Amino acid sequence: AENMLWGGRFTQGLDPIMEQYNASLPYDRIFYAQDIAGSIAFARANHKNGILTADEFAAIEKGLAQVKEEWANGTFEVKANDEDIHTANERRLSEIIGKDIGGKLHTGRSRNEQVATDMRMWLREELKKLEGYLQDLIKVAVARADKEIHVLMPGYTHLQKAQPVRWSHWLLSHATAFSAELERLREVAKRVNRSPLGCGALAGNPFNIDREAMAKELGFEGLLYNSLNAVGDRDFVFETLQWGSSFMLKISRWAEDLIIYSSLEFGFVRLADAYSTGSSLMPQKKNADSLELIRGKSGRAFGHMAGLYCTIKGLPTTYNKDLQESVEPLLDHVKTVGDSMLIATGVLSTLTINAEKMRAALAPEMLATEFADYLVRKGVPFREGHHISGRVVALAEDKGVPMDQLSLEQLKAVDSRLGDDVLECLDYERAVELKSATGGTSKSAVREQIEILKKTLF
Ligand code: ARG
Repeated sequence: AENMLWGGRFTQGLDPIMEQYNASLPYDRIFYAQDIAGSIAFARANHKNGILTADEFAAIEKGLAQVKEEWANGTFEVKANDEDIHTANERRLSEIIGKDIGGKLHTGRSRNEQVATDMRMWLREELKKLEGYLQDLIKVAVARADKEIHVLMPGYTHLQKAQPVRWSHWLLSHATAFSAELERLREVAKRVNRSPLGCGALAGNPFNIDREAMAKELGFEGLLYNSLNAVGDRDFVFETLQWGSSFMLKISRWAEDLIIYSSLEFGFVRLADAYSTGSSLMPQKKNADSLELIRGKSGRAFGHMAGLYCTIKGLPTTYNKDLQESVEPLLDHVKTVGDSMLIATGVLSTLTINAEKMRAALAPEMLATEFADYLVRKGVPFREGHHISGRVVALAEDKGVPMDQLSLEQLKAVDSRLGDDVLECLDYERAVELKSATGGTSKSAVREQIEILKKTLF
């Protein structure tokens, strides 16, 4: 135990299983660069305090640069007592520059503040990447919506044919949902980038360390102002998991739509081979595995969020070792969300659409509302128009023909106010173009959505 960083008061070594149970280095080594940057900032501040001489600080800075280099080129040798990234880096620093100077690095410092600092620095860079991925996804949807604006498809509610809409309108419905996630992400990112460094184990720093200077050096946009909170707070992880879960919920529904649309029965879209797989048994199969994995991985993302809530809900104030359990969910969540964004962008930018099939799936009954609207324009109250239109639907059903096969005479017999111009109601394009109020599916309304997305997002 005397080999352990905290070994002074211990007389026995760790049980081997406990050692493994306790160790976080297998995953928190991902923070090596952040941990070293934090140590250099801390040493610099302690030098300004007079705790380290200029020579000592120079030796620490140089030694840490070598440690970083070893991690970067894969030559860092992990030793049995390297519990986490903080102990591993400090142990190695002391080997390189000697214990007399190396042993001064941790003056006034705790791993509790280190881990929170490392996680925040790592996460803020990851969130920048995710922001870029999300923007790319929205851009692809917007570009397709612009290019394929002429394509009509059935719009569904309850998965039943409802009213004709533009394919672009469907694309933008999801792009709009994703843009809300982009806004949320930018909100979360602000609160991630606050510095806990200089808060100690829980009570604060006893050497009046310059927290502002350290925060500035490390690129933080401000401090956390209560030391008990700063080391025990994982709001930045929660918010990320909440945000990521919300995004996965959206992308999962998007994927579900496309799984349905890519089935043989619908045939609206065809996924590129790059995002599909075959069956080992059935030669004809082409499965939308990419989309099914997006849908499936959303469950795992929600699980991380729920799991961390359970981990933290009963903890006494400030740092407890349970908080180490916030690291792995965060790492996996961020990877899952980022990968899902990249796959979704790949799928959407390479799929082909079958405009004829979409058009063929339109059914005249989807125009029933047009008859009611037609009558409204002739002064008939909507409720009555709705009723008359319903009788037209019933008549077609009765005759066993689609609604557009009814003759003008048959229509007029339902209600005399259905005049010679009523057949224009049977035009899908017209039905779509009539939905021209902001937010609707007419060309001009869709173009307005495209402009709004472009303006607010990029
Ligand atoms: N590896 C720890 C974590 O991820 C930091 C170490 C603090 N440990 C402690 N016993 N105070 O939370």
